[in-house]
Amino acid sequence: MKIVLLGPPGAGKGTQAKVLAKELQILHISTGDLLRQNVSAATVLGKQAKDYMDKGMLVPDELVTQMVNKRLQQDDVKKGFILDGYPRNLSQAKALDVMLEEKGEKIDLVVYLDATAKVILQRLSGRLVCKSCGMNFHVINMPPKTAMVCDNCAGKLYQRSDDNSATIKKRLAVYSKEVKDLASYYQRENKLQQVSADEDAPVVLEKIIKLTRHPAFAGDHGL
Ligand code: AP5
Repeated sequence: MKIVLLGPPGAGKGTQAKVLAKELQILHISTGDLLRQNVSAATVLGKQAKDYMDKGMLVPDELVTQMVNKRLQQDDVKKGFILDGYPRNLSQAKALDVMLEEKGEKIDLVVYLDATAKVILQRLSGRLVCKSCGMNFHVINMPPKTAMVCDNCAGKLYQRSDDNSATIKKRLAVYSKEVKDLASYYQRENKLQQVSADEDAPVVLEKIIKLTRHPAFAGDHGL
């Protein structure tokens, strides 16, 4: 099954995608995570992307699309995937369709995680991320068992450099500008389903799982 998760920064895309990927035994592909790995490894892409990410702006489409295309060529993608953070605008959505069409594939389901502004700010200002495995925590909502240590791999937790109030504001503005066209595109294709993401993570997860089981979205391989 091939799923796209849409939603504002902090809606819980990464949190849900990680658990859902395990549940459905498919891949989780996060463009934010891939870009951050490139930044910390100081690759050419990482050096090109860093400034945009620090400012809360979108990294240019051609760079991100090339990165996603490369990832989608790998063998492990065959079992299906959850795309988190891509596409971010109409041009990326069209580029994704072309990439998949070339392989005779298509997106089965697009889940729009809708969260209110108050919830988003609370989540982003308290988010902690594992440096080693990328798992998300939250100082209040999902605290690690040991302060600043990952429950999953014992890696060190850190606060993302773009989780400061000025950059959060910019990221939300960029998101609002692009989301309408993106949502309309997937609505026209009858793939878009909206889920309220303000509730507790297990409740949100259950709603997404229900959608993946619906015959209209279960995809070629079923579940
Ligand atoms: P990216 O990493 O994709 O960031 P984002 O879209 O801003 O989304 P976030 O990762 O901030 O939020 P999320 O929805 O995943 O929330 P999370 O699960 O972590 O992108 C970063 C940057 O990279 C962009 O600004 C851009 O520069 C660049 N980029 C990436 N993709 C790009 C693209 N396609 N094109 C161009 N540029 C691109 O949850 C947040 C917090 O809330 C966590 O602490 C979590 O523990 C907590 N939480 C989650 N769910 C719940 C819940 N239900 N209840 C309580 N707490 C919860």
